[in-house]
Amino acid sequence: MLKGRNLINPDDLTVSELHEILSLAQKIIESPFDFSDSCRGRILGTLFFEPSTRTRLSFEAAMLRLGGSTLGFSEALSSSAAKGESLIDTIRTVACYADILAMRHPKEGSAALASEYTTVPLINAGDGGHYHPTQTLTDLLTIVETKGDLENLTIGLCGDLKFGRTVHSLLKTMTRFKGNRFLLISPDELQIPNYVKRLAFDEKALSVDYVELERMEDVLPELDVLYMTRVQKERFFNEADYVRLKDSYILNAKKMRHAKEDMIVLHPLPRVNEISLEVDSDPRAVYFQQAKFGMFVRMALILKLLGVE
Ligand code: NCD
Repeated sequence: MLKGRNLINPDDLTVSELHEILSLAQKIIESPFDFSDSCRGRILGTLFFEPSTRTRLSFEAAMLRLGGSTLGFSEALSSSAAKGESLIDTIRTVACYADILAMRHPKEGSAALASEYTTVPLINAGDGGHYHPTQTLTDLLTIVETKGDLENLTIGLCGDLKFGRTVHSLLKTMTRFKGNRFLLISPDELQIPNYVKRLAFDEKALSVDYVELERMEDVLPELDVLYMTRVQKERFFNEADYVRLKDSYILNAKKMRHAKEDMIVLHPLPRVNEISLEVDSDPRAVYFQQAKFGMFVRMALILKLLGVE
């Protein structure tokens, strides 16, 4: 039963619950108007203490397309956080007005803390460089819709694997499906943190095959999925390091010639420089479709957590 639950960590959902959400999202894609009244009278609260385009707007679009309404704030400065209100008090308050909450906050662990004080389902829409479970649902739906399966894939994760919360969540989740292989492509300084490796690889019942490497070109021809990421400027301690590392990887049409015909390129977006514009017209580039799948999967998640199917 998903009704009434929070979604804070990617592991909060079992594999069968993941499938349940994905198949509801697929039903919604097939006949979206069957759901246009499902959440009439319900309110989604969006608490965004950090910038967002896709996550916040796709959550709002999801609730509106389900016939519900939304309220919230899109920056800390326009909430009472600017007056010194604690996160806990803000959550307690907004939970009085909304039936379900989506929260993004720059501090790792903030969503887990908030979940102890909310009286309605709380969804983590990103907590610092930690996790972003609804981006993972988005990524999973995109992979299922384009590759047909979540198993036996060779997946390259490329870019800022240290601070990228979407990578941490996706890795923790995709290691739970059989037969996947992971090629972790990053500069030395931006490798996956040990705590994520431990959770994603060492503590799994399945033994997971992964390699850490620096050059994308060395593995591009092997990949079924290439997950590109932005270097997370806002999480760096100094500007010079960011400037040095920001253009470590740039995927362009020339590199794409070495990839499989049916490889897909994902990116949670926003993109800065890591994918050249010329790649956008390649049918393997599915990152804007991915943004749309994000809305459908959030519709499914809202329905499940509110228990209004
Ligand atoms: C990502 C995020 O916020 O972590 N964006 C998103 O939610 N689609 C990735 C990023 O900001 O680089």
